[in-house]
Amino acid sequence: MTLEYARKKIIFALDVHGLDDIDRWVEALAGKVGMFKVGKELFTSCGPAAVKAVQRFGGQVFLDLKYHDIPNTVAHAMLEAARLGVQVANLHALGGAEMMENTVALLHKEFGNDRPKLLAVTILTSSTEETLRGVGIEHPVQDMVVRLAKLAQNSGMDGVVASPLEISLIRAACGPDFLIVTPGVRPGFAALDDQKRIMTPAEAVKNGADYLVIGRPIAKADDPRTAADLIADEIVMGCK
Ligand code: C5P
Repeated sequence: MTLEYARKKIIFALDVHGLDDIDRWVEALAGKVGMFKVGKELFTSCGPAAVKAVQRFGGQVFLDLKYHDIPNTVAHAMLEAARLGVQVANLHALGGAEMMENTVALLHKEFGNDRPKLLAVTILTSSTEETLRGVGIEHPVQDMVVRLAKLAQNSGMDGVVASPLEISLIRAACGPDFLIVTPGVRPGFAALDDQKRIMTPAEAVKNGADYLVIGRPIAKADDPRTAADLIADEIVMGCK
């Protein structure tokens, strides 16, 4: 794997609050990472201007708003996300097959093959078996993850967001072409922060992750550009 290809696998989590912060980070990391993740907190405070700010420096955007609503509402919310020109966006697979199918169909109708990649969240990694039982789901978490990943694939979705520990199961169930985007990775040089069930970037890619969402190991480094370089190096070395 080339360094260029490894860099494209890194999605930097823009866990910041204002437009000035976005400018600073995107300018610093342009060319060092493949994409920038705009999540609920940043989007709620800055709105579509957050996406535009990333794009102004040529950055690509993963809009992480995890939609979950009636099929018509999710499909049209996703259409607006696509109109913002984001490359990747997501929704909750628990919204069901019709919600996902309607969303894929509407975006395909409007954008053809140029539509953003659509990812599904299966079971949030913060959920345990107890959480599931509390909402009436009497199945092990991993069974639900695989079941929802397959449902997403059969509904036309392009991939899922998954914890590093779920990569192999999903890859086995959904085949080589289904995208897997993985947060909760920690390079050898970084602190664990609050992440518990982690893998290194190289391990995650070797296990079958297509993209890695990485925030603090880059954001909190003394030299974020060098940290991004080290992560890309680790990926290249690990995949030799
Ligand atoms: O700083 P860190 O690398 O832990 O950031 C990871 C990003 O991925 C954060 O935006 C976090 O909200 C998100 N995320 C996560 N774990 C999950 C799902 C999402 O850390 N299971």
